[in-house]
Amino acid sequence: MKTPIFVVIFFLSSNFAHANGINLDLKSDNSQPPSSPTNEVYQIGIDLGIINPEKYPLEAFEHDDQNVFKDLYKEYLSLYDDQIDYEEWLIMNNFGILPDTQESLLEKKSNVTRSNNKQKFLNTVRTGDILITGNGIGGLVGHAAIMTTDNWVVEMPGGKGWQNGITSNNRRISKSAWYEVFKAGWTNVYRCRNNAAAKEAASWATRRYFNSKGGNTKNVHITYKITTNTAVVNTSYCSKLVVQAYHYGTGSRKVIDTSKLNKIIVPTTVPSYFLSGYTLRNIGKF
Ligand SMILES: *[C@@H]1O[C@H](CO)[C@@H](O)[C@H](O)[C@H]1NC(C)=O
Ligand SMILES: *[C@@H]1O[C@H](CO)[C@@H](O)[C@H](O)[C@H]1NC(C)=O
Repeated sequence: MKTPIFVVIFFLSSNFAHANGINLDLKSDNSQPPSSPTNEVYQIGIDLGIINPEKYPLEAFEHDDQNVFKDLYKEYLSLYDDQIDYEEWLIMNNFGILPDTQESLLEKKSNVTRSNNKQKFLNTVRTGDILITGNGIGGLVGHAAIMTTDNWVVEMPGGKGWQNGITSNNRRISKSAWYEVFKAGWTNVYRCRNNAAAKEAASWATRRYFNSKGGNTKNVHITYKITTNTAVVNTSYCSKLVVQAYHYGTGSRKVIDTSKLNKIIVPTTVPSYFLSGYTLRNIGKF
């Protein structure tokens, strides 16, 4: 098994798939089927400990690779100066896999599960909970939002024209409406183990991303754009809103790992930003 360090160095030695193709051509022994680039990339995910093949089989990866990742990666390249390799981009997005459950955010659910789970979701979510689901936007895999009360979700949903910025993209919707929008996939619910911090983050998210006085009509307008600046509120995007709320909204508490700030915040990795005492519990997927 390769060590992670070996694999990373290997990426930096440039075009991985191409180099590998040359190796295959030189092989005289054809006893093994030639490995496709997709297989290679999948194997890297396994070697890095990101992919558990029992929870995310090769066939599922091949499907997501063709139908989701390639397009999102192209979006990413079109938006950033940072021209990273496809493999590096997948690692940055953790292959769309939640680190704690090792489950893919892109997993779909049956229609029966959808209707059964809605009521459970509505009964479960509470103020400060973080919702993470599969719909990608802006070159990143997944979407994140925060429960600002037991009933309302505040989010930056993104949408058409996100490359140039979307004015007034922030919104508050009911938890029921949110579930309807994302019901084709799973919504993963995460809860900060410090209840006071969760309430503070929720209140901050309301005031900075919905109504400056904590009221019920929108009077704050935030432009959607993905940048590495995590210190400003305008512009913003989904996972940045969530991490900011727990960082700036919780006063002197040390909730968020500041060494991870001022980089793009990938939705799947939001739980990894939380420091001990404030770590997120996975409440379930709905
Ligand atoms: C689920 O419902 C949608 C419409 O609500 C329908 O188009 C689709 O075929 C259904 N899928 C299954 C697996 O029943
Ligand atoms: C955010 O920027 C937009 C466009 O520049 C502006 O219209 C909006 O008022 C700003 N919002 C806040 C809260 O400053």
